[in-house]
Amino acid sequence: MEIRGVAAVVTGGGSGLGWETARMLGGLGAKVAVLDLDGAKAGAVAKEIGGIALACDVGSEAQAEFAMQEARAAHGPARILVNCAGLAPARRIVGREGPMPLAEFEAVIRVNLIGSFNLMRLAAAEMSGLDPLEDGERGVIVSTASAAAFEGQIGQAAYAASKAGVVGLTLPAARELARYGIRVLAVAPGLMATPLLLGMPQEVQRSLEQSVPFPNRFGQPAEFAALVRHMIENRMLNGTVVRLDGALRMAPR
Ligand SMILES: NC(=O)c1ccc[n+]([C@@H]2O[C@H](COP(=O)([O-])OP(=O)(O)OC[C@H]3O[C@@H](n4cnc5c(N)ncnc54)[C@H](O)[C@@H]3O)[C@@H](O)[C@H]2O)c1
Repeated sequence: MEIRGVAAVVTGGGSGLGWETARMLGGLGAKVAVLDLDGAKAGAVAKEIGGIALACDVGSEAQAEFAMQEARAAHGPARILVNCAGLAPARRIVGREGPMPLAEFEAVIRVNLIGSFNLMRLAAAEMSGLDPLEDGERGVIVSTASAAAFEGQIGQAAYAASKAGVVGLTLPAARELARYGIRVLAVAPGLMATPLLLGMPQEVQRSLEQSVPFPNRFGQPAEFAALVRHMIENRMLNGTVVRLDGALRMAPR
């Protein structure tokens, strides 16, 4: 799909991978709605790229419906959705204080998995009513999984389960939405240089970088955005998850 002039929604657009994706889409002439729990961060990004900012918890049915309505009122129905909102707290299933509180597990699933599905269902409904473009294409949905979906580390039970859910959602969604010409994809990043990792102590960062075979460094948000751009532009890509990780395969800890 050609990006210029199209309405796009980016969740988690206030920081890291989502920020860079919103910037890429804005730079290529898309009309971008930046959704984030942190309205101030979303506002700064929207200002930079001439888009609109919407404060929204992706795990909330009502907030997501409202945000999609506002985005549609400003830009028209979206043809592009990129789900980047996510959180990655580390906690063992059985820690020093006993079993992981169920609410913590639920909170991660709610944002990373339910949040991605929540926006997917709303965007897909909107896209299905649009005029078809070349090949009958109506829309593209890209979600963010993680290498942890395949090699979750100790302490990542909730995170890895949530991202495996995003992986599992991709093919059935692509199959179901094919009749509307809507493609569904996911990116599974390894270690990316975003505030999430750059907040860690230098020694920890060095040792994490050492675990990436080639290139021996963290991925850059611009490399993530470049893959998302290719996914949007290449119509044969559908129903699959692409790892973006420099051949990293994460160890148990
Ligand atoms: N950085 C990495 O190494 C890495 C690796 C694999 C996967 N990922 C995934 O990539 C995505 C983006 O991560 P990032 O590194 O850019 O992190 P980040 O913390 O820089 O950005 C995440 C953004 O999501 C927003 N957010 C959190 N909860 C939300 C909610 N309930 N509703 C709406 N917005 C919410 C945050 O406010 C933040 O702006 C996440 O899904 C993360 O799991 C990151």
